[in-house]
Amino acid sequence: MKLFLDTANLDELRAGAKWGIVDGVTTNPSLIAKEGKPIKEQIAAICDIVDGPISAEVVAVEAKAMIAEGRELAKIHKNIIVKVPLIRDGIEACSALSKEGIRVNVTLCFSPAQALLAAKAGAYFISPFVGRLDDIGATGMDLVRQIVAIYENYDFETQVLAASLRGPLHVVEASLAGAHIGTLPFKVLDSLFNHPLTDKGLDQFLKDYNKAFSKK
Ligand code: E4P
Repeated sequence: MKLFLDTANLDELRAGAKWGIVDGVTTNPSLIAKEGKPIKEQIAAICDIVDGPISAEVVAVEAKAMIAEGRELAKIHKNIIVKVPLIRDGIEACSALSKEGIRVNVTLCFSPAQALLAAKAGAYFISPFVGRLDDIGATGMDLVRQIVAIYENYDFETQVLAASLRGPLHVVEASLAGAHIGTLPFKVLDSLFNHPLTDKGLDQFLKDYNKAFSKK
């Protein structure tokens, strides 16, 4: 499974990129707003840090305007994936942009039926939001499993990008479910490293080595 960072924060992206395990980036209007810079400027700076698909979301909600905005976003860098919400106009924009060769991430997906529409519209990525479904008492990961099965049934090329992942178990479950990509906030990516037995084992190795070889 590919790992994307779900952030527009440049420090977090630099820290993740240093590990060599970040395959791409997702942003949304809330994440861009948090950084306080205009979207084009922020997205261009992100493209300089991570060499992989970078999702930049439109803020228009009418198809014609979404298409125009999507074309502008796509011009920023060859790695841009235009993100559109899963509404009627978003699906129309996805069909039009995909036909032009612009890759589209259809976001805010909360049902397998919605995911079927996105695939038929030629989406490059579909983003089911796991954590936000958990928040309302549903089992978000079931949605990822259902989408993976539906896409496999019909050989859809749309990749499943498990989004709204809130902790390490979500990441493991998404990979077991067959998601092509998981997008993670920086703190979730960082938490994947942690295991007390790793720390304990390393501590013991160093103690033993230093005991044997350090000068008295
Ligand atoms: C993905 O593209 C979204 O930006 C993100 O995963 C939403 O996560 P949240 O529900 O934690 O805000």
